[in-house]
Amino acid sequence: MGSWTLDDIPWDRFDRSKLDSDIVRIVKAASLVEYNGGAYAHHLCRIFDDDPDFQRNARRWGEEEIQHGRALARWAALADPSYDFAAAFDRFQEGYRVDFDCDVSRRGSRSAEMIARCMVEVGTSSYYAALRDGVREPVLKEICRNIAADEVRHYKLFYRNLACCLERERIGFWRRLRVGFGRIAEAQDDELAYAYYTANSAAGPFDRRRNSRAYERRAFALYREQHVRHIVAMAFKAVGLSPRGRLARASVRLAWKAMRYRVIRLVKAAA
Ligand SMILES: [Fe+2]
Ligand SMILES: [Fe+2]
Repeated sequence: MGSWTLDDIPWDRFDRSKLDSDIVRIVKAASLVEYNGGAYAHHLCRIFDDDPDFQRNARRWGEEEIQHGRALARWAALADPSYDFAAAFDRFQEGYRVDFDCDVSRRGSRSAEMIARCMVEVGTSSYYAALRDGVREPVLKEICRNIAADEVRHYKLFYRNLACCLERERIGFWRRLRVGFGRIAEAQDDELAYAYYTANSAAGPFDRRRNSRAYERRAFALYREQHVRHIVAMAFKAVGLSPRGRLARASVRLAWKAMRYRVIRLVKAAA
């Protein structure tokens, strides 16, 4: 396990006066996605079936992701005592299914799988850093501080394994780029939108676009320029680009503007 447990969280410092209902909604969604980490760990062990060292690390990684889900769920239940995490997770698993039992990466190679995993950790580490910096409630701040540190460590684990994979399977720069940025685009897929839906309403049929926009409007609003800088540096490194070069600096400016523009559009659309 990582360097912290649920017992290290100062639950008694929970301050209801500092709650924000929008934050509660996105934390509930995150609790479901994180708690599903064990299924991904199982999939990684199948893909790396001849590498017991990496399998051990992947299992530990999965346990840490599950712990993230537990911590967020416990906080969400403090914030909203009517939140039934177990029922929400059952609904989430019922409606969001990915084949985790195959032994070949759907990214096409082990290296590509590691690039995709790095990108997920880029997304989560920046997201929890943005939450940590943006929320006022002290217990959630502490949970996010711990989770953000774990996610950076997870990125390093997959990046180290990517370097090992690349020694055996040479994949070209453009392929790395396509896999990496393809995985970022996938962040808008059903998983988060469906988690948001099952955690918060689950009344009426699932509307992917509506739930995805509702989630993004609340989550993207938390990001600041330094979080975008972190995303670009880590993502560039994973695909083999210089993390602090001229292209990276221009990409930070562009991505930051695009994110602000998107938030403004989503807020206007929701008004
Ligand atoms: Fe996590
Ligand atoms: Fe992670």
